[in-house]
Formats: sequence, C-alpha cells, structure tokens
Amino acid sequence: MAQVRLDKYISERTEYSRSQIKELAAKGRITVDGAAVKRPDVKIDAENADVTVCGQALRSSRFRYILLNKPQGYVCSTDDKDGETVISLIPPEMRTKGMFPAGRLDKDSTGALLVTDDGELAHRMLSPRRHISKIYIVKLDRPFENNYINKFAEGITLADGETCLPARAAVSELSDKLAFIELFEGKYHQVKRMFAAVGNHVELLMRVSLGALVLPEKLAIGDSMELLHKDVENLFEPMDFDLFCKRFSAVFSANLINNHL
Ligand code: URA
Repeated sequence: MAQVRLDKYISERTEYSRSQIKELAAKGRITVDGAAVKRPDVKIDAENADVTVCGQALRSSRFRYILLNKPQGYVCSTDDKDGETVISLIPPEMRTKGMFPAGRLDKDSTGALLVTDDGELAHRMLSPRRHISKIYIVKLDRPFENNYINKFAEGITLADGETCLPARAAVSELSDKLAFIELFEGKYHQVKRMFAAVGNHVELLMRVSLGALVLPEKLAIGDSMELLHKDVENLFEPMDFDLFCKRFSAVFSANLINNHL
C-alpha cells in the first residue's frame, strides 16, 4: 500500500499549488473516501483512495495521457515564443503542471498528438531504437506515382544526403492526390522532405495513428481526450499498414478534405 501525503497526491494530478490545496482543504473542498479532510499533510493510500477536489474526482494514475487532434496554427512546444502552443488547447481540467507534447507535428500539420507529463513514457516512445509506427495521410500537389512505393520501401535519400529507414506508402481509394505513408522514425519535416525527394509536394498533412492507436473518428479537430491504460499500451503495439489502409482509407480521406474545405 503506497502511502503519500494528500497535498503531494493532489499537486501531482492537478494544477493546484500546495498553498491553494491548503486553502481548499480548510474550506472543506477536499474529500478522501467521501469525507472532507481539512489537513493536507495526512497520508493516504495512493492506489485505492477516492479523492475529490471541488467535487471533481481525481484519477489514481499519477500521470496523464491526452490524445489531442491537433489543428493547424499551433506549435508543438511548451514555450509560446514561436506561437500559440498545443498545451493551450488542452482543457484546464485535463491539464497538469509538467505536460508537454510527446513528439512533434509541424505548425501547419494536424492530427494525433500525445500530450503527457510522463517523461519516461515519452522517452520510450521517441527513442529512435523503438521504431514505433506512425501513419500520416497527405494531400499532394501532383498525383501519387506507383514507383513511390518501392522508392520509399528501399529507404529514400533526402536532398541533404540524409537517408531514411524503409517506409510504406499507398494511394487513397478516393483520390490519386491523397496518400498514406507509414514511418518508423521522426526526422525534421520528414514526410514533406520524402515527397520532395520524389518530385512531389505535400500540401496538407494529418497524422492518423501512433503505434496501434488510431485517431478516433469522434475526436474533432482541436479536441482532446483522456487515454485509458489500454490505449497507452497500444502506442507500443505494431500496426498492420495494409489492414489500416483497407479499413480507414475512405474515412480519413474524407476527413482530411472536409477539414480543409
Ligand atoms: N513529417 C512532416 O513533414 N511534418 C510533420 O508534421 C510530421 C511528419
């Protein structure tokens, strides 16, 4: 049974400072297992206690995992010197102090982005040795050519001489200017630079999956949802690219077009 101080437990799961927690406790706004607790230094059972603050139940997990459907115009950073950050899109009740985007999407890219305060998980996810699958849909300036499939599978050399790991690509069933691409790494502007290397140009880009976690259709652009434990586990599971394209090509093709009408 992991015993922790109530104020530490609350501050790890909310944006409240220790002094605010003290004030809320004094006002009877904090409960543990249904009873108001006025002293924030009491020890509680971190795994089993039901804690509420101002009527809101706190989750028992120490870390938060939010899936954001990133809109265009926001930067993947915690520092707003280059523009409004993705953190500003997370509703205050879902936000915690140490949250950051685990990975990057360009300012003009959209789609699946994990925002968390779990540094260890982010490190595991972003480690170049992990090779987590990431699938993107792109709108191209010119039609997709079948020869891209082999070129990407062999490992593209970018304009600056950098080489990419083998990647998969497939054209959408709805349009020859829409395509899916699966990467297992994350170089700067990688998808855009890969299509540039085969003589095309990416006009729109949306990330549609991270590992085996597919961006839910019901998650509107700009919206966030809390991930469950099984969703977080899915980040590390492999994705079957062919099956993905078969099941989701039409949905995401329509989605990308509708979001940018
Ligand atoms: N590749 C890009 O070029 N841009 C992104 O935002 C993500 C992958």
